[in-house]
Amino acid sequence: MNFKQALADAAKQGPGDHTEVIDLNEYIDRVAHHPTIAATAHERVYDMVKAAGWKDGLHAGEISYNFFSAELFGLDVPLERVVRYFETAAQGHETRRRILLLWGPPGGAKSSVAGLLKRGLEAWTATDDGAAYTLQGCPMHEEPLHLIPDALRAQAREHTGVPVSGSPCPVCRWRLDHEFGGDFLKFPIERIRFSEARRVGIGTFEPGDPKSMSMEQLTGGLDFKAIESHGSDSHPLALDWAGEFSKSNRGLFEAVEFFKNPAEFRNLFLTMAQEKQFKVAKFGYIDSDTVIVAHTNEAEFRAFMADQKNEALKDRLVTVSVPYNVRVSDEEKIYRKLLTGSGRDELHIAPHSLRAAAMVSVLSRLKEHENLGLVEKMKLYDGQEVGDWKLAQIPEIKRAADHEGMSGLGPRAIVDILSGAARRAGEEHATGKYLTPIMALIALTEYIERLEAPKETREQLRAFVVDARTEIDRVLKDEVRKAFVPAFGEHAQELLENYLTNIEAYCQGTKTVDPITKEDRDPDEKLMRAIEEKVKPAVSQSAKDTFRQGVLMRIGIALRKRERPLTYETDTVLATGIEEYLFDQLKDIVRVTVSKTNPDREQAKRLNEVLTILIEERGYTEHSARDLLDYVGHLLNR
Ligand SMILES: Nc1ncnc2c1ncn2[C@@H]1O[C@H](COP(=O)(O)OP(=O)(O)OP(=O)(O)O)[C@@H](O)[C@H]1O
Ligand SMILES: [Mg+2]
Ligand SMILES: [Zn+2]
Repeated sequence: MNFKQALADAAKQGPGDHTEVIDLNEYIDRVAHHPTIAATAHERVYDMVKAAGWKDGLHAGEISYNFFSAELFGLDVPLERVVRYFETAAQGHETRRRILLLWGPPGGAKSSVAGLLKRGLEAWTATDDGAAYTLQGCPMHEEPLHLIPDALRAQAREHTGVPVSGSPCPVCRWRLDHEFGGDFLKFPIERIRFSEARRVGIGTFEPGDPKSMSMEQLTGGLDFKAIESHGSDSHPLALDWAGEFSKSNRGLFEAVEFFKNPAEFRNLFLTMAQEKQFKVAKFGYIDSDTVIVAHTNEAEFRAFMADQKNEALKDRLVTVSVPYNVRVSDEEKIYRKLLTGSGRDELHIAPHSLRAAAMVSVLSRLKEHENLGLVEKMKLYDGQEVGDWKLAQIPEIKRAADHEGMSGLGPRAIVDILSGAARRAGEEHATGKYLTPIMALIALTEYIERLEAPKETREQLRAFVVDARTEIDRVLKDEVRKAFVPAFGEHAQELLENYLTNIEAYCQGTKTVDPITKEDRDPDEKLMRAIEEKVKPAVSQSAKDTFRQGVLMRIGIALRKRERPLTYETDTVLATGIEEYLFDQLKDIVRVTVSKTNPDREQAKRLNEVLTILIEERGYTEHSARDLLDYVGHLLNR
């Protein structure tokens, strides 16, 4: 479809179009056919989350909900609790009368969880399953089933399968009597779509300066013009209905910084949750049905929980802690999302850059575990079994780590540091913005120096940078070695054949044949040992016989299976030795790049081959590839 056509179609999606008007009879038929359209607010959220599907989580018994997992990483466990809240509330348990309170460290995605639910509902109510209907003109877009008189509700439930609760708002009641003579079948009903911008079904409230805060922001106030024309301030049409409670009816209300609200505001929220009603002066109670998602930082949460005066309130909250993510690979995803999300300008992120920063932040969030160092713990959480520790032990290790993820470096600060570093590098080199692992670690170190924190904290963080650097140095050396070795793939192949010929002769007690003179020769012990010493872990003199027989056996099996052509990688253990052996010989070439003296033609050619591999196959740019070679060259020269 061309763009202009798509634009024209999209313009017709607004509320102005397709306002099909139906009556209560028709609505009841639709509900009977499709009960989800008359869902309560909690049911609607749960239906929406369920509809997106789920997968098994990382560890046994854990679930990962697709609704969240495309945007939020490493939070499956707390998010499962959030979904559980909606599930039990949807089933009609008392949780539907509780406020969901998310608490955790700054930048730990509390607002993002609420935001996803809000955006999700907007999209969900535009689908068939998520469709919502309302009494036309109702200031709080209420559920049309409210029209059904009490005496007929039991029958209505039998007919549709959906229980009816709540009664018409003052405005609809007034219109019912005065415009339709009490005949509720005449009341027009139409479909609505939730939209925060249009203030339908989604509300947000953030406490401001206590002096200027007014409860009317929540409940709505008097409309003075309307009072004049209706002659009384208790006339239902004299209320402005602009309060956040009526706007968010049927959907979701986000209460930001919940505990910063004065007590009387908090009480309003509680009544709203508990009684599913709110009170407006002179109007009595008005029925409402809204999910309330509140959030707060940890300090305020703890202060609140410690205060005896709040016992009654505590009872009415379902609290879920939202910690920082503690998996390095998930942390990388967060940074990538935040750094590239705006899509405004190109940013080149060299491989391993985000990992370098992610390791520092994850380390800063972890708690000590006996006999398991922090770096090992970080690797284990990231899916790498270390020593005797098995992945299956992670849930148990996590249970022992009280408060893990509730402190440390948050993603917001890290992303600011990384994007600042990338911008400066771009300016300095007059290239586009780019980021390398070393730049990331340097920028983090500078940040830590400036941090307003106790000296011990800063020292601790600096130590994490050192840990991350040790890991990254290894990764980068490996990267360069791999880039060099495929460029000399034939060397590796030659070396393999040479080695195999020699160990075969050695194991069988025979001689090898000199390729030129055709004379018999003893197996080349020096060559065999040179490779074996480079194998990871190195093969000792006393273990060499077993090792050689093992290689022959594994190669023999691979050949019989005809898995693939025999390459130096066929035996993965031997491959480490061959790569390392070749890399040793290549050190000089790498050094040439760092010394910047004139390389000879052969060296320059090899260097170019390596650069090409890094750029074309490994995701580097010319600049970041040269930075990598410089850095690794410098490491090798130490
Ligand atoms: N686990 C995560 N997965 C994906 N993104 C995350 C994660 N944690 C934080 N973020 C991102 O970091 C940014 C900060 O998160 P957000 O504003 O939601 O945090 P918050 O808990 O509300 O913080 P505050 O307490 O400061 O209000 C957001 O862009 C969010 O998407
Ligand atoms: Mg927030
Ligand atoms: Zn109404």
